Amino acid sequence: MRIGILTSGGDAPGLNIALYSFIRLAEKRHEVFAVFHGWEGFIDGTVRRVTSLDLLPYISMGGTMLKTSRRNVFNDGDADRLIKTINDYNLDCVVAIGGDGSLRASNEAIKLGINVIHIPKTIDNDVFGTDFTIGFDSAVNAAVSVSESFRTTLMSHERVGVVEVMGREAGWVALHTGLATMADATMIPEYKLSLSSVIDRLINTYKTKHYALLVVAEGVEVKGDIVTASQSPHSNNVGYRLAELIEEVTGIETRAIVPGHSIRGVAPTAFDRTLAIRYATAAYEAIENGLYNVMVSYRGSKIDYVPIPEVAGRSRLVSGEWLKLYELYWG
Ligand code: F6P
Repeated sequence: MRIGILTSGGDAPGLNIALYSFIRLAEKRHEVFAVFHGWEGFIDGTVRRVTSLDLLPYISMGGTMLKTSRRNVFNDGDADRLIKTINDYNLDCVVAIGGDGSLRASNEAIKLGINVIHIPKTIDNDVFGTDFTIGFDSAVNAAVSVSESFRTTLMSHERVGVVEVMGREAGWVALHTGLATMADATMIPEYKLSLSSVIDRLINTYKTKHYALLVVAEGVEVKGDIVTASQSPHSNNVGYRLAELIEEVTGIETRAIVPGHSIRGVAPTAFDRTLAIRYATAAYEAIENGLYNVMVSYRGSKIDYVPIPEVAGRSRLVSGEWLKLYELYWG
């Protein structure tokens, strides 16, 4: 069989080891082709034979050795060129490693008759149909580490600190960072709050501890006294804005940090590495069993398959047990 493999959308720690594991299994019986820059590689023809040895030096690194792109080639009227390249290379199927945007692309590819296996990745952890995406655990651990070093300086200077972490629609990174650091307040797009209640909480905390830490997801917006999900697709610099407002209201020196992409570029944690290996193995087994057009998923600690058309276009936001936990500590 001839198999194409690509990474698409924002990069995430664990992509290189996922690529390595899949290629290492598949190359024993099949020919594997790396498609560079996501689905765009089929448009510009950057498709090359690849072996596991090519990936080996990168397995402990973040990023993706195959490069990536957010461009939706299916919207841009390039489908004919894409199909032509797939036919030119005589590919039987494509393994796409991507987040929710890329899942929509995988679904478009299926509609064109391409056999697809999707592996979910994104630091945002918001892909519907799976409990974990490759990269989330690494990004959270990095955000925790940054927050804790920030906290030591907050303690020394007796300040309030705001950490803004990535997550435009889903607050998973903020929630887990807030919990793991036992932050004094956390703001996620899924939970509406009043700013004054958060400030009261910070003032009370400050009275006993002489510092306070607030974690906020980038997808949160402050409108008057209401803290809610932002409608803007771009960053509103909510962390800096909150720091200014908090300092203005409380009179306590407040600082903000925005670790941004630095939590996305880290080396993958052991959890993300083993998740990547398990997903890659499941993708390989799907191909061996002739099972196509599925996303590999991790639910209730089991690796499973879900049909791509059932999950494409949907988002997994903070809800259920996780939202209750949020409410209990910060609601
Ligand atoms: O890949 C997900 C993500 O990291 C989001 O958390 C963030 O909002 C966005 O990507 C940033 O995108 P870009 O890398 O294109 O600036």
